[in-house]
Amino acid sequence: MRLIKDTGAIFYNHKWRVQRGLLQDRHDIVSSFPVRQIIIWRRKGGINFNPGYFLPTYEVIYLIAKPKFKLAKKANAYGDVWEFTQEMKNEHPAPFPVALIERCIGSTEAKVILDPFMGSGTTAVVAKQLGRDYIGIELSPEYVGMAKARLNGKLSSKRSKSVFSSINPQGKLFNNI
Ligand SMILES: C[S@@+](CC[C@H](N)C(=O)[O-])C[C@H]1O[C@@H](n2cnc3c(N)ncnc32)[C@H](O)[C@@H]1O
Repeated sequence: MRLIKDTGAIFYNHKWRVQRGLLQDRHDIVSSFPVRQIIIWRRKGGINFNPGYFLPTYEVIYLIAKPKFKLAKKANAYGDVWEFTQEMKNEHPAPFPVALIERCIGSTEAKVILDPFMGSGTTAVVAKQLGRDYIGIELSPEYVGMAKARLNGKLSSKRSKSVFSSINPQGKLFNNI
């Protein structure tokens, strides 16, 4: 948080879960951060095998904002409930929908986008499309490969700089630029 400019923000996605019959909203994770808003990402449900609660159909996105953060022009017209279907055509086990990331990045004026859990590179792909620079960090070399393949398959109208990092099992960071 201290590395982010006074005009910067974090979009932090969290899936609230029921465990041993009680909601685990893990508020402790964000309790020391300046949470400005909770956005509901309404997605399609799956199958609920538990008779004790309703089928979960949403996840939350915390907008954690520095004091001078402002949304991009007209983005404040969006509501705080966003409906986007999960990504189906992606081999990563938990990819974000492109449209969801477009909403997050496109709602800011940020020039550099950091995703410390880059997975298959959805954030990088969208950042590139929107002409922003991006930094991605990902534990799995396999997913780094997926992200690179996606990035190489996309045409970008604007140039953007990229930094991709993968952490090997010993925890050593190495760059794939
Ligand atoms: C929910 S997935 C992100 C998916 C991504 N948004 C996409 O659209 O493909 C989380 C990713 O974080 C990675 N990950 C988990 N722990 C990590 C760590 N300590 N450092 C870097 N990456 C990590 C996992 O390998 C996984 O690919």
